[in-house]
Amino acid sequence: MTKLCVNIDHVATVRQARMTDQPDPVLAAQDAILGGADGITLHIREDRRHIQVSDLFKLKETIQAPLNLELAATPEMLAIAIEATPDMVMIVPEGRDEVTTEGGLDVLGDMQRLREFVNTLVEKNLCVSAFIDADFAQIEAAKSCGFTVCEIHTGPFAQAYMHNNRSLLNPLVLKERLKVENAVSSVLEMGMQCNAGHGLTHGNVSGIASIPNISELHIGHSIVSRSIFTGMRASVSEMKSEIQRARQ
Ligand code: PXP
Repeated sequence: MTKLCVNIDHVATVRQARMTDQPDPVLAAQDAILGGADGITLHIREDRRHIQVSDLFKLKETIQAPLNLELAATPEMLAIAIEATPDMVMIVPEGRDEVTTEGGLDVLGDMQRLREFVNTLVEKNLCVSAFIDADFAQIEAAKSCGFTVCEIHTGPFAQAYMHNNRSLLNPLVLKERLKVENAVSSVLEMGMQCNAGHGLTHGNVSGIASIPNISELHIGHSIVSRSIFTGMRASVSEMKSEIQRARQ
């Protein structure tokens, strides 16, 4: 069964809007687990716009579920990952001016540097994932760099869904879904674990969750958004039900 890892960044976004101590992402993570989350994901950005390093260490002390840390491949983040030893280090591209992660990592264009970065983490017994577009050349490059997990970027699928009447049967949506499906097959054929995420919502998740053999979906904004109205547990539980229904 595909696991659901809940990204709690945007709980911290609300907190940082007032630089106060609420809402607490640690409490949100605990509630997400009570709602059925199989793991907790967080992204420490260079500009610390939401999650702070102190959140990471509090989560590490408190949370029993697997902890997945998203970060850019920089020396500062390498040191944080080595100290925190999360269950998975997820390398993502990062742009100062972007609202959210805008595209997959260009592994092909940065092979040597990424290979060294991944090797350093693997030597510390850390599992390392590459967030990449549904692109065969990038998948091959990730394998060659030593990544053992790829997370396929589902943003283009989510955009196609949003701009085409929120219909999972629209041909443009199906085209993006097929790209993800083919990418999942390639990742698995190369012997890596395949995860997926970005832009998934309670409305569109079934389009991706119905693809066989995706290990984990990483979902944040939609779950946190709905939790404002329903509470975190119910929001996670609804997402989990959507994923289970899609697989059935
Ligand atoms: N996966 C990766 C690599 C991400 O960078 C993000 C956003 O932080 C997500 C998944 C979750 O995306 P969303 O918040 O759109 O669900």
